[in-house]
Amino acid sequence: MTKTPTSRLDKLLANMGYASRREIQLLAKNGRIRLDGAPVPRADDRIALTPDLETRLVVDGEALDPLPGFILMLNKPLGVTCSHKEAGPLVYDLLPSRWRRRDPAISTVGRLDKETSGLLLMTDDGALLHRIISPSRHVAKRYRAHLARPMSGREAELFAAGTLMLEGEDKPLAPAELEMIGPQEALLQVHEGRYHQVRRMFAATGNHVETLHRESVGGLALPADLEPGAIRRLTEADIAAIFAPS
Ligand code: URA
Repeated sequence: MTKTPTSRLDKLLANMGYASRREIQLLAKNGRIRLDGAPVPRADDRIALTPDLETRLVVDGEALDPLPGFILMLNKPLGVTCSHKEAGPLVYDLLPSRWRRRDPAISTVGRLDKETSGLLLMTDDGALLHRIISPSRHVAKRYRAHLARPMSGREAELFAAGTLMLEGEDKPLAPAELEMIGPQEALLQVHEGRYHQVRRMFAATGNHVETLHRESVGGLALPADLEPGAIRRLTEADIAAIFAPS
């Protein structure tokens, strides 16, 4: 049986972005941190990091933020960027401000372009992040693309062949599945995460992607009721769905 990890309360809350360790000591002293309804006067005590802590530990009357090791989905709106290197609002600005001060920090699981919308996963769990993006896991990503020009009808065969070489690369793309929805609309499922991959695939056919939206990662689909800019924490079943065949 694995042992439940423990942490000093001041360290846990400081790393979750609540305040400095010193300030947390003061919060505790002033009775503003409660466990199972009773004040916790000493923030240097160790506490077991069981999942139910999120409902048992209350800071200033508010239930605890997600404990370290969580994953969420964002319906990424157009115009926000995943990279600190690019200009414009960041996907991190869409998180509650305290979550942006966490250590370990929350990172995006791969990236979507500034002008791509849809399902973006974000986590503070490095091992889970690597499991999802690892090429050996073959987690598929499905995109809906609207194109500037009608497709020729030969795209599906070309993308499925596993021989398409993108400009500037020395390894062909893995086979990808294309479903034509209309002359200028397609669903494309890819199993890699190369830079601007979908846009470059259509560019290789002489076309141009006008809008791009990610609908799913593995077997996890973006829920229809998750508005652009909204976030939702993943359940264990959602996480399992990522790795389920899609
Ligand atoms: N492919 C792209 O071209 N852009 C994305 O954002 C994702 C996949």
